Amino acid sequence: SSDESKRGITILVTGAGGYIGSHACLALLEAGYNVIALDNMVNCWKDDRLPEPESLIRVQILAGRQLKFYHGELLCKPSLEKIFEDIIQEHKKIDVCMHFAALKAVGESCAKPLEYYKNNITGTMNLIELLEKFGCKSLVYSSSATVYGDPSNLPISESELTGVGLTNPYGKTKYMTEEILKDLCNAVQDWGVISLRYFNPVGAHVSGLIGEDPNGIPNNLVPFVAQVAAGKLPKLKVFGGDYPTKDGTGVRDYIHITDLITGHIKALEFILKDFKGFKAYNLGTGKGFSVLDVIRAFREASGKDIPYEIVDRRPGDIAASYCDASLADRELGWVASRDIHDMCQDVWRWQSRNINGFKKEINPNC
Ligand code: WQD
Repeated sequence: SSDESKRGITILVTGAGGYIGSHACLALLEAGYNVIALDNMVNCWKDDRLPEPESLIRVQILAGRQLKFYHGELLCKPSLEKIFEDIIQEHKKIDVCMHFAALKAVGESCAKPLEYYKNNITGTMNLIELLEKFGCKSLVYSSSATVYGDPSNLPISESELTGVGLTNPYGKTKYMTEEILKDLCNAVQDWGVISLRYFNPVGAHVSGLIGEDPNGIPNNLVPFVAQVAAGKLPKLKVFGGDYPTKDGTGVRDYIHITDLITGHIKALEFILKDFKGFKAYNLGTGKGFSVLDVIRAFREASGKDIPYEIVDRRPGDIAASYCDASLADRELGWVASRDIHDMCQDVWRWQSRNINGFKKEINPNC
């Protein structure tokens, strides 16, 4: 499978400018695929003078290759159809779609449920209807461990029941979309969908040029810790010290973004080998780390103090979540290889070189 053989394979990436989408575009370009990148840019920073999000400008520099960028909105079906016509004219076909575009803030989804259902579900429906119309019936879907709710068994395997005890609209959109995609694959021959259930993606590309760039104050642990280490935020609040875990703090399965993306490339190769139907895989390391473990690892990686205080539990949080990752190993030939120290080191490189995320120039003194 030389790079040359992949030049003829066209991948449509939605949500391409975001944290996970941008890392996926880089890996796809590096592997030799034609990449069509789509984003509505509500969640990625862009220089007003340039047509593309900063993340994708850096992706193309890193890859030494170009992608084709479209500023497009999944909710606007007529204009999306125009984009599809344009893609087909230029590339003849779309082979596979990697669908990352979605809203993803849990707290916000409780305040604005309709926006979440519309964006994540209607957006996906518009996308799959147009994919089908234009001859593509292959999708890699960006799902979440949140579909398992509060799991009754650990580690969590794919056979665990989904959709039970979901506490927020965001999680429900991921669950409902999986159900829609399952029904589609059952009803319509030739559809092949691989749903990847992410545990807790963290980390950044090893170059320090692309990474996660949250809007405002981060909701998630690792970006928050990174900004405390950088001196942008004074102190971390640890949500709960009385969980039934080894040190009382929440336990999660953190996975390096680069490993997560390797999982997508494996899923893509699997689909390209003519996979049909619906299949879901966990993407995680299979290991659980507590909040205090993460603080310790980040302190080591950054050499910075991370002040914290233990406060009340965050509503909707669960004590522990980590996966059985063996199905992806057996069927896709995928295992995560980077550990928590690699994750913290790469986040720190990204954070310290880009103190304001994509907004500012790289600090050459770091
Ligand atoms: C990890 C641990 C917190 C912040 C969420 C969504 C999930 C998802 C990823 C989104 C927990 C603790 C956190 C803080 C803390 N998908 N924490 N202080 O909750 O496992 O998953 O994000 O796209 O659907 O639910 O991730 O990083 O928010 O929290 O103590 O300031 O850190 O309680 O134990 P979570 P997280």
